[in-house]
Amino acid sequence: MRIVSGIQPTGNLHLGNYLGAIRNWVRMQDDIESHGGQCLFFLADLHAISMPHDPAELAANTLEMVAALVACGIDPDRSILFNQAQVPAHSELQWLLNGTARMGWLNRMTQFKDKSGKNREGASIALFTYPVLQAADVLLYQATHVPVGEDQKQHLELARDIAQKFNNDFCPVDAPVFTLPDPIIPPDAARIMSLRDGSAKMSKSDPSDMSRINLTDDADTVMQKVRKARTDPEVLPSEAAGLEGRPEAANLVGIYAAMAGTGVDDVLKDFAGEGFGKFKPALGELLVEKLSPINERFVELKQDREQLDAILAKGALKARDLGAPTLDAAYKALGLVRG
Ligand code: TRP
Repeated sequence: MRIVSGIQPTGNLHLGNYLGAIRNWVRMQDDIESHGGQCLFFLADLHAISMPHDPAELAANTLEMVAALVACGIDPDRSILFNQAQVPAHSELQWLLNGTARMGWLNRMTQFKDKSGKNREGASIALFTYPVLQAADVLLYQATHVPVGEDQKQHLELARDIAQKFNNDFCPVDAPVFTLPDPIIPPDAARIMSLRDGSAKMSKSDPSDMSRINLTDDADTVMQKVRKARTDPEVLPSEAAGLEGRPEAANLVGIYAAMAGTGVDDVLKDFAGEGFGKFKPALGELLVEKLSPINERFVELKQDREQLDAILAKGALKARDLGAPTLDAAYKALGLVRG
């Protein structure tokens, strides 16, 4: 089993990022060792240039994301943690795969349609070929499994189509160059909403800082944000169905369940009939208990440029070694002469 997954570097990391992709990666890392497998996790910094961006911000976000991943439990000694920009094979393989990917396939990608919007003609070529780079990311390492959110499933299917066509067109039947990877869509990916509005996702771009719990927030700030979180005047129901039509209440209970590692019904068993005056302090304390070790490590590591550089350099070295044979095989299969 070889797990490969990427994440775009963003700044101002918050609880939604942690309970979304990051914690899931940490679990996979911790599970896979008993299966004798291997995890590669990378910052998709090359993907980030497909949209208008600020170079200084991209560099800062990349380092911040590494600090967050390590603080949350990704261990650079057990997993291979790196950024694409330090492993040129990603870009090289993308070009080789551009010969196999079809315009028609890419034209069907919904992310391109969403991100380019009405301005298709003004979208970057990188945005269009984004899924081919993503295919290179996983095919380079012979990934067997790729954890992604539901929104990335289409890109994974494309990676499989590219791998299959390349193998068909250029490889003997008994010696395919690429492994077809399977997506892993986490079933319980918690959708964390804003603390101020239960119908909006928790987001770094919400102008109100009170809407989110940042990984940089100290214990007092976390307690205060939970205390001020929007709720309704009702007491908590005894089962999940009773939270319907109560998005703020559902969000807070959902956060509690995700942090405690239990189900919503289990949380409600303990709090049925209680108001938020009782529930909020319990939630705040749980968050502080679980987040403060992460917070401490994150704040410290974020400022340690030397250590962050060293982590990325080490990861890149391992990734380059691991990807080299597949890249060589791809060049060779295409008849490209390299001495
Ligand atoms: N496109 C992914 C996202 O936005 C990030 C990503 C890039 C990725 N390359 C990948 C995810 C390879 C999994 C595998 O979430």
